[in-house]
Amino acid sequence: MSEEANKTKPLVLGLFGFGVVGEGLYKVLAKTTSLNASIKKVCIKHPNKKRNAPAELFTTDADLLLNDPEINVIVEMIDDSEAAYSIVTTAIKNKKQAVSASKKMIAEHLEELIRLQQEHGVSFLYEAAACASIPVIRNLEEYYDNDLLAGFQGVVNGSTNYILTKMFEDGLDYKEALLEAQQLGFAESNPALDVEGIDAVNKLTVLLSHAYGIVSHPSKLLYTGIQNINANDAKVGAEKGLVIRLVAQARKTNDGKVASFVLPQFVKKDNPLYNVRNEYNGVVIKSGFADEQFFYGKGAGSFPTASAVLSDISALRYEYKYEYKKLFYHVPNELTWDFYLKVYVSFEQLQSIPQQYFEWIEEWHSNETGGYLVGVLHVKHLLESQWWKQKGVSLVLTADPFIENIELRQLRKKSLELAGVVV
Ligand SMILES: NC(=O)c1ccc[n+]([C@@H]2O[C@H](COP(=O)([O-])OP(=O)(O)OC[C@H]3O[C@@H](n4cnc5c(N)ncnc54)[C@H](OP(=O)(O)O)[C@@H]3O)[C@@H](O)[C@H]2O)c1
Repeated sequence: MSEEANKTKPLVLGLFGFGVVGEGLYKVLAKTTSLNASIKKVCIKHPNKKRNAPAELFTTDADLLLNDPEINVIVEMIDDSEAAYSIVTTAIKNKKQAVSASKKMIAEHLEELIRLQQEHGVSFLYEAAACASIPVIRNLEEYYDNDLLAGFQGVVNGSTNYILTKMFEDGLDYKEALLEAQQLGFAESNPALDVEGIDAVNKLTVLLSHAYGIVSHPSKLLYTGIQNINANDAKVGAEKGLVIRLVAQARKTNDGKVASFVLPQFVKKDNPLYNVRNEYNGVVIKSGFADEQFFYGKGAGSFPTASAVLSDISALRYEYKYEYKKLFYHVPNELTWDFYLKVYVSFEQLQSIPQQYFEWIEEWHSNETGGYLVGVLHVKHLLESQWWKQKGVSLVLTADPFIENIELRQLRKKSLELAGVVV
């Protein structure tokens, strides 16, 4: 097919889902006539729901879309990740291009989804699955060469960010802030996916593959959410001019490997993530020569998410594919679990803190109702045990959490000197 023919190729779409994202896409497509794309059928789950679209468009029979030779693009926007997996893999096997917004499904099946794309030679695009309207996947994939990418830090979950903003700015307690987020529709009715960091680690899994060619599984990454952050943590941060964000990040270490995790972190005023408030998302990309770049936008919602889906559909006109360049055209990076972090830990009971894990403790405050410390520990003490996730313990990374080995040796020396030991 000539390049010119590709550009004008009509896209016949089969949509799955007509909820927040699906209906948003339907409306957005109606306003984008230049795209030369038409919706042939929409598959939904509950046939009797009232829809803001002609009844003949809808079906509950997935095969009607997946086996229709005229439909050349399947757009999956449903809230059931098992069914989404079956829809997307069948579409790819049937040689249809596919677009998806389902971060959980993609993160949990990334390796197989990459293999299937290679095997069947079709595009599978999912920009909406990372930060909705922020085009971060295509940027990491296309623009930043492996060697140039020093790291990235992102606020990638709007609901948790809304809760943290309310805790800091309005002094709300965690439970009050969560309730408000739910009432406004920013958090799921079962909020665990958001507040326990699961959504963020799913997105991190997706970003790692495009940034560094690391194809992992969310269960293998270090993560937590904001479920244990309390009003006092916010107060301690505010006294130091800091806010807390739930940060998904990756950073090249001195040995050329990649340290990556999702953890709450204190953020200083000069970090662009400081100003990412409420339900917004933001990603700071640090590159060798271009220094720092910042992407900011809506990480959820009907039209913002639909706009990312639309952009993927539009890219299919010229048969755009993720090439997974860092995986297939570079030597892929490896994750490392050999680094030290400086953390703040607050506690209700002193006994819940295994002090022997700390290389160095530089601040310690406690009274009869609890307290907090700031200290340095090896990441293995977070990876191998769950003490820091238990109720009544809250761990937040400090604003500059990465401690290089040389710095650690200096800290140890200083600590021994303070203890009166001659070194
Ligand atoms: N909402 C956001 O801001 C946002 C942002 C980024 C990514 N996403 C992702 O986008 C996807 C959709 O989210 P949403 O917020 O639009 O969900 P939603 O409002 O709950 O809508 C879900 C839709 O999926 C349909 N559905 C569920 N199971 C189905 C099945 N087996 N076959 C066909 N249709 C099925 C439902 O059908 P009925 O209408 O018949 O119930 C409904 O139309 C999710 O993966 C989500 O993580 C959402």
